[in-house]
Amino acid sequence: MLRADALLSRFGYCSRREAAAWLRAGRVRIDQSPITSPSAKVDPARVLVDGQPIPFVNGIFVALHKPLGYTCSHISEDGSPTVYELLPAQWEARSPAVQSIGRLDKETAGLLLLSDDGTLVHALTSPKRHIEKVYEYRTAAPVPPEATALFASGSFTLNGEKSPCLPATLEPDVSDPCHGRLRLHEGRYHQVRRMLAAVGAPVMDLTRVAIGSLQLDSLSLNPGEWIPINPQLFTDAP
Ligand code: URA
Repeated sequence: MLRADALLSRFGYCSRREAAAWLRAGRVRIDQSPITSPSAKVDPARVLVDGQPIPFVNGIFVALHKPLGYTCSHISEDGSPTVYELLPAQWEARSPAVQSIGRLDKETAGLLLLSDDGTLVHALTSPKRHIEKVYEYRTAAPVPPEATALFASGSFTLNGEKSPCLPATLEPDVSDPCHGRLRLHEGRYHQVRRMLAAVGAPVMDLTRVAIGSLQLDSLSLNPGEWIPINPQLFTDAP
């Protein structure tokens, strides 16, 4: 149960100060009864605001097909659009805020998960979870055949880092040495670009195509589109 004024601000309708006017105007109801007192305790799942149930009343967990050129920051430093602009505007005003679960570079496209559940975000980004992420790459030069064993070894260390990368699986296309997939179980800064650059194959195009068992292809999302996901897909996975 939540105070009616706290509910309106928690779900991004208006500020707590503005809530009194919304309530006086009869915009908040349970069944047919208007809730007029800011301190009334209400069950969010039963509340109607302007006649509509609260969207995503039990929390937000979505998969977005991130387009190229979008930043995962809430505030863009260089004027480029943010992934949050692709989500309903009201979500920006919700508290807690929606955040991305890990990040993709501005120039990386593909599968991005977002949630307003801080505990879930923390659990899924924890280095202990080792959730597999699969990236499809196109490089400017062929990836040398010895890169497969090097990345799988667990002893490959990125420039400027002390600890080696966890074993990663490189799956180059048989017919095209500039194209393939890299499977990682961690998420270091610009990791795919840095790994492939280290073996002389700078990345031209990069797309995240899967996180755990969730495949971007299976979601049929165009770039910029999103879809709700059941968090149990990740919380129930080992
Ligand atoms: N590795 C990268 O280099 N960039 C990303 O966006 C994700 C993984």
